[in-house]
Amino acid sequence: MAIDYADRIPNNVGLSDNRRLQRALESWQPKFHDWWLEMGPEGFQANEIYLRTAVSVDVDGWAHFDYLKMPEYRWGIFLAEPEAGRTVNFGQHKGEAAWQEVPGEYRGMLRRIIVTQGDTEPASVEQQRQLGWTCPSLYDLRNLFQVNVEEGRHLWAMVYLLDAHFGRDGREEAEALLMRRSGDRDRPRILGAFNEETPDWLSFYMFTYFTDRDGRFQLASLAESGFDPLSRTCRFMLTEEAHHMFVGETGIGRVVRRSCELMNGHDTDDLRACGGIDLALLQKYINFHFSVSLDLFGGELSTNAANYFTSGLKGRFRETQIDDDHVLSNDTYRVIEPDGGEFVGADAPALTSLNERLRDAYIADCQRGVDRWNKVIAQQGIDFELRLPHRAFHRAIGLFAGMHVSPDGQTVPEAEWAERAGDWLPNDDDRTYVSSLMEPVTRPGSMANWIAAPARGINGRPVEFEYVRL
Ligand SMILES: [Fe+2]
Ligand SMILES: [Fe+2]
Repeated sequence: MAIDYADRIPNNVGLSDNRRLQRALESWQPKFHDWWLEMGPEGFQANEIYLRTAVSVDVDGWAHFDYLKMPEYRWGIFLAEPEAGRTVNFGQHKGEAAWQEVPGEYRGMLRRIIVTQGDTEPASVEQQRQLGWTCPSLYDLRNLFQVNVEEGRHLWAMVYLLDAHFGRDGREEAEALLMRRSGDRDRPRILGAFNEETPDWLSFYMFTYFTDRDGRFQLASLAESGFDPLSRTCRFMLTEEAHHMFVGETGIGRVVRRSCELMNGHDTDDLRACGGIDLALLQKYINFHFSVSLDLFGGELSTNAANYFTSGLKGRFRETQIDDDHVLSNDTYRVIEPDGGEFVGADAPALTSLNERLRDAYIADCQRGVDRWNKVIAQQGIDFELRLPHRAFHRAIGLFAGMHVSPDGQTVPEAEWAERAGDWLPNDDDRTYVSSLMEPVTRPGSMANWIAAPARGINGRPVEFEYVRL
């Protein structure tokens, strides 16, 4: 299905045949542009950047790369191809034809799902808006902006659903998505992790690795939805999302590589004297970002999650590949719970444990990257292992909220926690040090001292390519 770029809003949803929707989106478009200029990347709006733009939804060749100023990026609406005869694949409506319109009884729930997902997209752009000033290379600067424009497009994707399927309250929600601000006391973004700062590039790589990955799992579950427009929207978003996680995984991997080189070159594991990020500090950042991202999955036992599933709105990760009845009314799932000072597995109803099940899939996926980073460390002959902290560490939501648990899963007295938190999480001194490293490097091909060069450039271009024309 071709994308119509002649339209003011590029799309493959036949927008020009739907005057009402077209008008709604065209009246939202200038507000989005205002938001982008006010809250998008600061200072680089007039520069030409080597960006990819979606030009079709074909698996092969969906993207086009060229120089572009960010405000001229063609944000549009792209849904994956419809699947003929698609059905609701789980829950009480299993086997019915997938819905093309919102089922009346699920309107409120569905709107809430879409708004919550939609809110994260502009939030991350806001969190990252200052980072351009301190880029470790032009390659990284371009990747930051690529992620930012695509998060902007993901906002478009959710606003399309609101405008197309929720009438007047959908339009109001679409406006509100541009009114909330990450970290704002009076009108914050909906989810906690999206109100945290992304103050430096190490945090940015952590965010794209851990927090964008939460996004991937949420989108993958929504891609299973019986509400077909949501499913098709999310399926295409996942294509873009993969790059964001690539930026995170390779970003952290390059820091790991550089740290090992510095350790071997200077024969020390304290890299502050030589301007590197030591592995112990990296571990603290992992502890922080992993734990706040775990909270994004919600409580271990959740009737909301059960309702979303039973209604056919939000499936499990890779729902159709799971070998069971996809209704789950009599099934159980093993959930880890606190029991005194210990953690034990307990069988809970599968339906209410769906958040936990998704979190388990997420944790396994996070671990794969950690294993790859550890391989780099081992290859460099260094005896150190990065680890994901215990799931109960530093949690603010769910069964472990308020507990004092060390990264290796020991419950500790509150006083000990208070004393040791700065050994487990980045403390003020660590953050000040990391921010002292954030000096911009803008000569094509050059890298900041604390990070290794990427293995290859973008779209077959060399690493030395001028990815941003300053
Ligand atoms: Fe996104
Ligand atoms: Fe993303």
